[in-house]
Amino acid sequence: FESGILAGVSVVITAGPTREAIDPVRYISNHSSGKMGYALAAAARDAGARVTVISGPVNILPPERVRVVPVSSALDMLQAAQSEQEHCQIFIAAAAVADYRPAQVAEQKVKKSTDELTLTLIKNPDIVATVAAQENAPFTVGFAAETQDVEHYARDKLNRKKLAMIIANDVSRNDIGFNSDDNAVSVFWPTGEARYEAMSKQQLARHLITLMADRYQEYLLN
Ligand code: PMT
Repeated sequence: FESGILAGVSVVITAGPTREAIDPVRYISNHSSGKMGYALAAAARDAGARVTVISGPVNILPPERVRVVPVSSALDMLQAAQSEQEHCQIFIAAAAVADYRPAQVAEQKVKKSTDELTLTLIKNPDIVATVAAQENAPFTVGFAAETQDVEHYARDKLNRKKLAMIIANDVSRNDIGFNSDDNAVSVFWPTGEARYEAMSKQQLARHLITLMADRYQEYLLN
Protein backbone atom coordinates (compact mmCIF):
# COMPACT_ATOMS: atom_id res chain seq x y z
CA PHE A 1 0.00 0.00 0.00
CA GLU A 2 1.67 3.20 -1.15
CA SER A 3 0.79 6.18 1.01
CA GLY A 4 0.88 8.97 -1.58
CA ILE A 5 -1.28 7.40 -4.30
CA LEU A 6 -4.24 9.72 -3.66
CA ALA A 7 -2.29 12.83 -2.63
CA GLY A 8 -4.24 15.97 -3.53
CA VAL A 9 -7.39 14.02 -4.40
CA SER A 10 -10.75 14.64 -2.67
CA VAL A 11 -12.82 11.54 -1.98
CA VAL A 12 -16.46 11.45 -0.87
CA ILE A 13 -17.83 8.18 0.55
CA THR A 14 -21.41 7.33 1.51
CA ALA A 15 -21.64 4.87 4.41
CA GLY A 16 -24.11 3.13 6.68
CA PRO A 17 -27.86 2.67 6.35
CA THR A 18 -30.56 5.26 5.77
CA ARG A 19 -33.65 5.56 7.98
CA GLU A 20 -37.04 6.16 6.40
CA ALA A 21 -39.53 7.58 8.86
CA ILE A 22 -42.99 6.07 9.28
CA ASP A 23 -44.02 8.41 12.09
CA PRO A 24 -42.12 10.43 14.77
CA VAL A 25 -40.95 7.24 16.57
CA ARG A 26 -40.66 4.54 13.88
CA TYR A 27 -38.63 3.94 10.75
CA ILE A 28 -37.60 1.40 8.08
CA SER A 29 -33.91 0.62 7.79
CA ASN A 30 -31.40 -2.20 7.25
CA HIS A 31 -28.41 -3.92 8.90
CA SER A 32 -25.59 -1.82 7.45
CA SER A 33 -23.11 -0.95 10.23
CA GLY A 34 -21.02 1.58 8.30
CA LYS A 35 -17.89 -0.56 8.78
CA MET A 36 -17.12 -0.97 5.07
CA GLY A 37 -17.57 2.73 4.27
CA TYR A 38 -15.55 3.87 7.29
CA ALA A 39 -12.74 1.40 6.45
CA LEU A 40 -12.58 2.86 2.94
CA ALA A 41 -12.46 6.35 4.43
CA ALA A 42 -9.47 5.42 6.64
CA ALA A 43 -7.68 3.74 3.71
CA ALA A 44 -8.29 6.71 1.38
CA ARG A 45 -6.99 9.06 4.10
CA ASP A 46 -3.86 6.89 4.50
CA ALA A 47 -3.42 7.05 0.71
CA GLY A 48 -3.17 10.85 1.04
CA ALA A 49 -6.73 11.87 0.07
CA ARG A 50 -8.94 14.53 1.69
CA VAL A 51 -11.92 12.47 2.77
CA THR A 52 -15.57 13.28 3.51
CA VAL A 53 -17.98 10.57 4.69
CA ILE A 54 -21.70 11.14 4.24
CA SER A 55 -22.89 8.85 6.98
CA GLY A 56 -26.25 7.37 7.86
CA PRO A 57 -26.85 6.62 11.57
CA VAL A 58 -24.20 4.15 12.81
CA ASN A 59 -22.78 3.01 16.16
CA ILE A 60 -19.09 3.11 15.28
CA LEU A 61 -16.60 5.94 15.60
CA PRO A 62 -15.50 7.75 12.45
CA PRO A 63 -11.82 7.50 11.51
CA GLU A 64 -9.66 10.41 12.63
CA ARG A 65 -8.91 13.22 10.19
CA VAL A 66 -11.98 12.42 8.10
CA ARG A 67 -14.83 14.92 7.72
CA VAL A 68 -18.25 13.48 8.54
CA VAL A 69 -21.57 14.79 7.22
CA PRO A 70 -24.30 13.04 9.25
CA VAL A 71 -27.60 12.28 7.50
CA SER A 72 -30.65 10.16 8.22
CA SER A 73 -32.93 9.51 5.22
CA ALA A 74 -32.12 8.74 1.58
CA LEU A 75 -33.40 12.20 0.60
CA ASP A 76 -31.00 13.81 3.12
CA MET A 77 -28.16 11.66 1.77
CA LEU A 78 -28.97 12.68 -1.81
CA GLN A 79 -28.89 16.36 -0.90
CA ALA A 80 -25.53 15.99 0.89
CA ALA A 81 -24.12 13.93 -2.01
CA GLN A 82 -25.13 16.54 -4.57
CA SER A 83 -23.45 19.35 -2.69
CA GLU A 84 -20.30 17.33 -1.81
CA GLN A 85 -19.77 15.76 -5.25
CA GLU A 86 -18.96 19.15 -6.78
CA HIS A 87 -15.74 19.29 -4.78
CA CYS A 88 -14.48 15.73 -5.23
CA GLN A 89 -12.68 13.68 -7.86
CA ILE A 90 -13.69 10.23 -6.55
CA PHE A 91 -17.15 9.32 -5.20
CA ILE A 92 -17.67 5.93 -3.53
CA ALA A 93 -21.18 4.71 -2.64
CA ALA A 94 -20.85 2.15 0.15
CA ALA A 95 -24.11 3.12 1.88
CA ALA A 96 -27.06 0.76 1.98
CA VAL A 97 -29.66 3.30 0.86
CA ALA A 98 -33.29 2.30 1.40
CA ASP A 99 -34.79 1.73 -2.04
CA TYR A 100 -38.25 2.80 -0.80
CA ARG A 101 -39.68 5.17 1.81
CA PRO A 102 -43.17 5.47 3.29
CA ALA A 103 -45.34 7.54 0.93
CA GLN A 104 -46.55 9.56 3.90
CA VAL A 105 -44.88 10.28 7.22
CA ALA A 106 -47.55 10.44 9.93
CA GLU A 107 -47.28 13.62 11.98
CA GLN A 108 -48.32 11.83 15.18
CA LYS A 109 -47.44 8.37 16.44
CA VAL A 110 -49.58 5.82 14.58
CA LYS A 111 -52.06 4.31 17.05
CA LYS A 112 -52.61 0.57 17.37
CA SER A 113 -56.11 -0.19 16.05
CA THR A 114 -56.90 -2.58 13.18
CA ASP A 115 -55.42 -6.11 12.99
CA GLU A 116 -53.91 -5.31 9.62
CA LEU A 117 -52.16 -2.16 8.58
CA THR A 118 -50.91 -1.39 5.08
CA LEU A 119 -47.91 0.82 4.52
CA THR A 120 -47.53 2.33 1.05
CA LEU A 121 -43.94 2.83 -0.07
CA ILE A 122 -42.55 4.96 -2.87
CA LYS A 123 -39.19 4.68 -4.59
CA ASN A 124 -36.26 6.73 -3.37
CA PRO A 125 -34.00 8.48 -5.89
CA ASP A 126 -30.82 6.58 -6.75
CA ILE A 127 -27.97 8.60 -5.23
CA VAL A 128 -24.97 7.05 -6.97
CA ALA A 129 -26.72 7.10 -10.38
CA THR A 130 -27.64 10.77 -9.87
CA VAL A 131 -24.01 11.63 -9.08
CA ALA A 132 -22.67 9.64 -12.05
CA ALA A 133 -25.14 11.33 -14.42
CA GLN A 134 -23.96 14.87 -13.62
CA GLU A 135 -21.93 16.82 -16.10
CA ASN A 136 -18.29 16.67 -14.92
CA ALA A 137 -19.18 13.71 -12.69
CA PRO A 138 -16.43 12.42 -10.41
CA PHE A 139 -14.89 8.95 -10.91
CA THR A 140 -17.85 7.12 -9.42
CA VAL A 141 -17.66 3.73 -7.70
CA GLY A 142 -20.70 1.78 -6.54
CA PHE A 143 -21.28 -1.34 -4.49
CA ALA A 144 -23.68 -4.13 -5.40
CA ALA A 145 -25.25 -6.11 -2.58
CA GLU A 146 -26.54 -9.31 -4.13
CA THR A 147 -27.86 -12.64 -2.90
CA GLN A 148 -27.71 -14.50 -6.26
CA ASP A 149 -26.15 -14.19 -9.76
CA VAL A 150 -23.68 -11.71 -8.28
CA GLU A 151 -21.65 -10.98 -11.44
CA HIS A 152 -24.70 -10.66 -13.69
CA TYR A 153 -26.50 -8.16 -11.44
CA ALA A 154 -23.30 -6.26 -10.63
CA ARG A 155 -22.43 -5.75 -14.31
CA ASP A 156 -25.99 -4.66 -14.96
CA LYS A 157 -25.68 -1.98 -12.20
CA LEU A 158 -22.26 -0.91 -13.55
CA ASN A 159 -23.78 -0.22 -16.97
CA ARG A 160 -27.19 1.09 -15.94
CA LYS A 161 -25.85 3.52 -13.32
CA LYS A 162 -22.92 4.53 -15.62
CA LEU A 163 -20.30 3.79 -12.97
CA ALA A 164 -16.53 3.64 -13.42
CA MET A 165 -16.33 0.57 -11.19
CA ILE A 166 -18.58 -1.66 -9.09
CA ILE A 167 -17.70 -3.71 -6.01
CA ALA A 168 -19.98 -6.72 -5.61
CA ASN A 169 -20.54 -8.52 -2.32
CA ASP A 170 -22.61 -11.64 -1.78
CA VAL A 171 -24.88 -10.61 1.09
CA SER A 172 -26.54 -14.02 1.37
CA ARG A 173 -23.57 -15.10 3.56
CA ASN A 174 -23.57 -13.85 7.13
CA ASP A 175 -19.78 -14.12 7.65
CA ILE A 176 -19.28 -11.30 5.11
CA GLY A 177 -21.19 -8.23 3.91
CA PHE A 178 -23.73 -6.51 6.17
CA ASN A 179 -22.54 -5.83 9.73
CA SER A 180 -19.70 -8.43 9.77
CA ASP A 181 -16.04 -7.50 10.29
CA ASP A 182 -14.95 -9.23 7.07
CA ASN A 183 -15.90 -8.97 3.44
CA ALA A 184 -15.13 -10.77 0.17
CA VAL A 185 -15.81 -9.00 -3.12
CA SER A 186 -15.59 -9.16 -6.88
CA VAL A 187 -14.82 -5.88 -8.61
CA PHE A 188 -15.90 -5.11 -12.17
CA TRP A 189 -15.09 -2.21 -14.47
CA PRO A 190 -15.72 -1.87 -18.21
CA THR A 191 -12.40 -3.46 -19.22
CA GLY A 192 -11.54 -5.82 -16.38
CA GLU A 193 -12.25 -7.44 -13.05
CA ALA A 194 -10.56 -8.48 -9.79
CA ARG A 195 -11.53 -10.78 -6.90
CA TYR A 196 -10.66 -10.61 -3.21
CA GLU A 197 -11.21 -13.52 -0.83
CA ALA A 198 -12.61 -12.92 2.66
CA MET A 199 -10.45 -10.64 4.82
CA SER A 200 -11.04 -7.82 7.32
CA LYS A 201 -12.85 -4.79 5.93
CA GLN A 202 -9.75 -2.69 6.87
CA GLN A 203 -7.42 -4.89 4.82
CA LEU A 204 -9.87 -5.14 1.94
CA ALA A 205 -10.36 -1.36 1.92
CA ARG A 206 -6.62 -0.87 1.34
CA HIS A 207 -6.70 -3.24 -1.65
CA LEU A 208 -9.79 -1.51 -3.03
CA ILE A 209 -8.32 1.99 -2.63
CA THR A 210 -5.12 0.85 -4.41
CA LEU A 211 -7.21 -0.58 -7.26
CA MET A 212 -9.35 2.59 -7.47
CA ALA A 213 -6.26 4.82 -7.49
CA ASP A 214 -4.90 2.73 -10.40
CA ARG A 215 -8.13 2.91 -12.38
CA TYR A 216 -8.48 6.63 -11.59
CA GLN A 217 -4.98 7.34 -13.01
CA GLU A 218 -5.93 5.39 -16.15
CA TYR A 219 -9.19 7.35 -16.43
CA LEU A 220 -7.33 10.69 -16.16
CA LEU A 221 -5.14 9.67 -19.11
CA ASN A 222 -8.17 8.95 -21.33
O1 PMT B 1 -22.03 -1.17 6.41
P1 PMT B 1 -21.51 -2.59 6.56
O2 PMT B 1 -22.20 -3.31 7.69
O3 PMT B 1 -20.00 -2.63 6.67
O4 PMT B 1 -21.90 -3.42 5.24
C1 PMT B 1 -21.33 -3.09 4.01
C2 PMT B 1 -22.36 -3.17 2.88
C3 PMT B 1 -22.78 -4.63 2.66
C4 PMT B 1 -23.59 -2.31 3.19
C5 PMT B 1 -21.61 -2.60 1.63
O5 PMT B 1 -20.49 -3.39 1.36
C6 PMT B 1 -22.53 -2.57 0.40
O6 PMT B 1 -22.69 -3.52 -0.33
N1 PMT B 1 -23.17 -1.37 0.19
C7 PMT B 1 -24.19 -1.19 -0.85
C8 PMT B 1 -25.49 -1.74 -0.36
C9 PMT B 1 -26.61 -1.54 -1.37
O7 PMT B 1 -27.53 -0.83 -1.10
O8 PMT B 1 -26.44 -2.16 -2.53
P2 PMT B 1 -27.45 -2.08 -3.79
O9 PMT B 1 -27.00 -3.21 -4.70
O10 PMT B 1 -28.87 -2.07 -3.34
O11 PMT B 1 -27.12 -0.68 -4.45
C10 PMT B 1 -26.20 -0.51 -5.50
C11 PMT B 1 -25.45 0.79 -5.36
O12 PMT B 1 -26.35 1.89 -5.51
C12 PMT B 1 -24.74 1.00 -4.03
O13 PMT B 1 -23.52 1.65 -4.29
C13 PMT B 1 -25.70 1.90 -3.26
O14 PMT B 1 -24.99 2.74 -2.34
C14 PMT B 1 -26.29 2.73 -4.38
N2 PMT B 1 -27.66 3.21 -4.14
C15 PMT B 1 -28.71 2.35 -4.00
C16 PMT B 1 -29.99 2.83 -3.86
C17 PMT B 1 -30.20 4.22 -3.83
N3 PMT B 1 -31.42 4.75 -3.68
N4 PMT B 1 -29.15 5.07 -3.95
C18 PMT B 1 -27.89 4.59 -4.10
O15 PMT B 1 -26.93 5.37 -4.22
